[in-house]
Amino acid sequence: MKTEQQGSGLLIATVVGAAVGVAVLASAFWFTPAGYSVASINAEPSVEYGRRLIRDTAAQMGPGHEDPAMRFSGTSMDCASCHLVTGTKPGTLSLLQTASDYPRFSGRDGGDRDLRDRINGCMTRSMNGRELSRDSIEMLSMEMYITNLNNQYAVMGETRRQLDEPPEFAEPNRAADVEVGQQVYEERCEVCHGRDGEGLAAATDMREGYLFPPLWGPDSFNNGAGMTRVLTAANFIKARMPLGQPDLSDDQAYDVAAYVNSHERPQRAKLEVDYPDLTRKPVDSPYPPYADDFPIEQHRLGPFEPIREYYRNLQQSQ
Ligand code: HEC
Ligand code: HEC
Repeated sequence: MKTEQQGSGLLIATVVGAAVGVAVLASAFWFTPAGYSVASINAEPSVEYGRRLIRDTAAQMGPGHEDPAMRFSGTSMDCASCHLVTGTKPGTLSLLQTASDYPRFSGRDGGDRDLRDRINGCMTRSMNGRELSRDSIEMLSMEMYITNLNNQYAVMGETRRQLDEPPEFAEPNRAADVEVGQQVYEERCEVCHGRDGEGLAAATDMREGYLFPPLWGPDSFNNGAGMTRVLTAANFIKARMPLGQPDLSDDQAYDVAAYVNSHERPQRAKLEVDYPDLTRKPVDSPYPPYADDFPIEQHRLGPFEPIREYYRNLQQSQ
């Protein structure tokens, strides 16, 4: 038979136990003012660690990380600099529906690639960094996070799935004009991204990442990144920029994308091995070689319709 004494002892034990549990939980999620987790969030793969890697990439694996082995990214940008709201915003460059698309064929790599390969694609190009090992806790966590977004999307209601962005970019049938793009940049972008596209750091400690990420220069995406393609960039810019007020016309988005990509940025080695089948190379891929004789300038700035027509005819004649 249980006495009252034992009963309250049990109660106290339970309360103490719960308090310890809460304390353990709290410490697992405890952040120092600088934003670094002091507990071992990275002890095993988790959705939460994946979220942090994609949201706070600079802090978690940027060039300023205190452990050199963890400096995977070559820039202090975050994955979320392009995959807005940590990939949870429906629409352009959302990661909500990504997981179900992989594995799939990649023209750039010339074979089937899974989600981990795709993440490494952005690590080595958009983030100008080095590949993560396929079985690392970091890779598994990002994969878990992106896969989890897919489940989240499946249960999201229609209203939350709705796109909050202007009509899709429609490509003008002309070459993009870098000089006009510069004017657009000065009027609409410079206030955040800076006179020289250098962005604005969040703090003097670069592990804090950027308030406004750089668009070109040494700490931006490299010349093998998808964002260096004028159509990819114009698509993103029309949908999302200026941040919070995306109201550019197709012409403005096209020209400013060309201006952004007319500047110096980190160079990726061996770009010539991309697209083993050159007829699969996107028309706006800004680096050679090509399976056609159009000048590089036209691949960088357009007009693109003549290039597409060339490849359509090529297919028909085969
Ligand atoms: C500079 C902008 C930029 C940054 C930073 C960036 N990405 Fe991307 N990412 C892109 C673009 C552009 C694409 C789509 C390219 C294309 O058109 O195929 C993409 C595609 C992807 C895809 C495939 C999406 C799909 O639905 O097929 C994944 C996954 C991805 N990125 C993950 C990441 C991760 C993880 C990071 C950080 C380590 C990152 N990205 C950083 C621009 C960026
Ligand atoms: C109000 C500030 C603001 C303005 C104005 C603005 N941006 Fe951005 N931009 C951002 C922020 C912030 C991000 C990163 C996304 C995030 O953190 O949510 C970003 C991200 C980007 C990116 C992807 C990340 C990178 O560094 O490459 C591009 C490209 C971009 N902006 C281009 C433009 C262009 C072009 C304009 C002008 C038409 C523009 N932005 C205007 C704030 C701004």
